[in-house]
Amino acid sequence: MNPKLERPPKVTFSLTETCNLACRHCYADCKKTAKRPELSTAEWLHLIDYLAANGVIQTYIEGGEPLQRPDIFRILRRATAKMMTLLRTNGTLIDARTAHRLKASGVGHVLVDLMGARRETHDWFAGVEGSFALACTGVKHLVAAGIKTDVLTILTKRNAGEIQAILELARSLGAQRVGVLRLYPLGLAKSLWSELALSLDEQMAVIGALAPPDGLAVMQSWHPRDRNCCWQSATVNAFGDSIGCPYLREYVNHGNVRDVPLMEMWDNDPLSKTLRAGKIDTSCTRCNKNDGSEGGCRSTAYAFRGRWDAGDPFCPTLNDGVDLRVLPEWLHQENPAPANQARS
Ligand SMILES: C[S@@+](CC[C@H](N)C(=O)[O-])C[C@H]1O[C@@H](n2cnc3c(N)ncnc32)[C@H](O)[C@@H]1O
Ligand code: SF4
Ligand code: SF4
Repeated sequence: MNPKLERPPKVTFSLTETCNLACRHCYADCKKTAKRPELSTAEWLHLIDYLAANGVIQTYIEGGEPLQRPDIFRILRRATAKMMTLLRTNGTLIDARTAHRLKASGVGHVLVDLMGARRETHDWFAGVEGSFALACTGVKHLVAAGIKTDVLTILTKRNAGEIQAILELARSLGAQRVGVLRLYPLGLAKSLWSELALSLDEQMAVIGALAPPDGLAVMQSWHPRDRNCCWQSATVNAFGDSIGCPYLREYVNHGNVRDVPLMEMWDNDPLSKTLRAGKIDTSCTRCNKNDGSEGGCRSTAYAFRGRWDAGDPFCPTLNDGVDLRVLPEWLHQENPAPANQARS
């Protein structure tokens, strides 16, 4: 079983579902303007105060593109005054002035996505010409402003041959760490699944061949690093829904912070209790020895096996014949529910 916490130590805010880019793989399916009313400035500030008063020590701010929100610096200043604050951004809106404002607002750590080492590759994913150059410049400005900056990338068929070059590019831009992440069958990525998804063997071969340049740390989420971190995770989306984790966005809704305090949902929602308990039927004993793998990521376990207590097929020990290149049938539906389980 997973460790039992009284409170989530960190909470993710998916601050907006608006974005200046149009990524083909985006799990959030962002638009230029909000599809429905998002939480107001006052609501986010109140939530930050409430979480800090309840012992939350870290917030991870993402989107959509969080820098699209006109009130972003008010929200960041309130968050950094009370919690360690990380910001995940596409980097394209970060000029020298914005980087210095981020530093002055107390943000300790920024994560920027690069989907390729070449302009053609990154801009194909981002759907907007010129975004590669802007994202690279954004990283340089962040580093120059003295902000610890990581580059993130998602491993797909289209950029698998560039991951090593992304490590080298990230180092040359001044990043300290690169996170190589998996593609999740969420949002727009579902309709491109057959074009982008690699088999598990192909994914493991890319990860196994990486040779990080001196001074760069690589973070990856495959065996032996396939974690089940649901026990410590809470996320509030742009509309106030408590969705557990950004990667659970299509499967989980514990309720809305406008109606029920987040900690009450964390304590009482039956699915929240199930996910946090981490009772899984098969685990990989070599994944995350310190933390306990408890079956790996719950999002991909549920997507491919339709059960919260199933092993994660992104781990070779637990894969058991699942072809990750094939999108599970139930995910083709508009309002999906796995064949063996009603939507929770
Ligand atoms: C939705 S974005 C929000 C922050 C910012 N706009 C950005 O792109 O970095 C958060 C992260 O989710 C990642 N992401 C989007 N779609 C994904 C998918 N289908 N699978 C895995 N990660 C995804 C993005 O690469 C990005 O790092
Ligand atoms: S992945 Fe990030 S940058 Fe790309 S469309 Fe989604 S929110 Fe925007
Ligand atoms: S869904 Fe996966 S990434 Fe998200 S908290 Fe659970 S195990 Fe961690």
